[in-house]
Amino acid sequence: MKILVTGGLGFIGSHTVVELQNEGFEVVIIDDLSNSSIDVIDGITAITGIKPHFEQLDLKIRSKVEDFFKAHNDIAGIIHFAASKAVGESVQKPLMYYENNINTLVYVLKEIGKLQHQNFIFSSSCTVYGQADELPITENAPVKPAESPYGNTKQIGEEIIKDTCRVNSELNSIALRYFNPIGAHPSAQIGELPKGVPQNLVPFITQTAIGLREQLSVFGGDYPTQDGTGIRDYIHVVDLAKAHVVALQRLLQRKNESNFQVFNLGTGKGSSVLEAIQSFEKVSGRKLNYKIVDRREGDVVAAYADTNKANDVLGWRTELTLDDAMASAWKWEQKIRNV
Ligand code: UD1
Repeated sequence: MKILVTGGLGFIGSHTVVELQNEGFEVVIIDDLSNSSIDVIDGITAITGIKPHFEQLDLKIRSKVEDFFKAHNDIAGIIHFAASKAVGESVQKPLMYYENNINTLVYVLKEIGKLQHQNFIFSSSCTVYGQADELPITENAPVKPAESPYGNTKQIGEEIIKDTCRVNSELNSIALRYFNPIGAHPSAQIGELPKGVPQNLVPFITQTAIGLREQLSVFGGDYPTQDGTGIRDYIHVVDLAKAHVVALQRLLQRKNESNFQVFNLGTGKGSSVLEAIQSFEKVSGRKLNYKIVDRREGDVVAAYADTNKANDVLGWRTELTLDDAMASAWKWEQKIRNV
């Protein structure tokens, strides 16, 4: 069965391609290489023994999207990762974000509407909840006004899919709201490749430990949490990738109760920044140079998932721990720096 993975050479996309191939799916990857490397194909091939079909394609060029789907009209499902994801950059370049994340989604949805099998999985984010009033966060928590154009593209993206599902009953879709994906494949063949200075916590930790960065700034030590630092739900990227396969199988087997469903993907456990650092220090045996500084604008105090719906309805749960994720992220950092 042929599955299209857009953005399949990115961080979450590449791990999902591995899990799809492990389950016997034939994968076609589209990626524009704007924030990924062609070498990721070698990593995927080394892990699975199968080289996925790859096409470098910019989804913003509608005619190219149409041509691609004409050539691949036997696609049984699409997992749509392709998008820009840097919050700060989105504030500086809102139109780039709306074009990259919204135009492309519209073009892909137009094409999927012409296919015989219309199964669609969308990468969404817990950012849609903002600072939720109640923790853990269920899927019924209200969507709050977006803090950034990036966050807005995830909210609007979900709305676009929902509206399309209302008029096209053939379209079956699931939006997956990720909490904080971290880690790397345990083989260290694939992992996260942040360009420039990492904005996210875990790549900043590993780059500091390896000597690329002087010191980690911990943003805020005066939050109303047990140790004063922000709380997040860090999920191992391999667990997250497996959830995509389970969600896809649900659509392929027509088990979905409605043609647009939303699931939180997290561990259900909140960890503070200091706990994340302690976990890293434990598994790496290294002391991390860090300093508590002012809060970062736009950060929420705490966010972690209620995972009941994903556990009960999808039948998926996480298997890996924060320590596992930190150990894999560290192994990956050492591999890419040739240490
Ligand atoms: C961020 C985005 C979120 C997006 C996600 C994608 C913001 C406000 N949110 O999530 O919308 O979906 O990335 O990956 O940018 N921290 C430090 N020092 C650092 C980096 C982070 O202390 O150098 C802290 C943060 O304050 C936060 C935690 O670590 O408490 C996690 O931060 P990060 O990895 O950037 O993820 P989010 O901000 O949760």
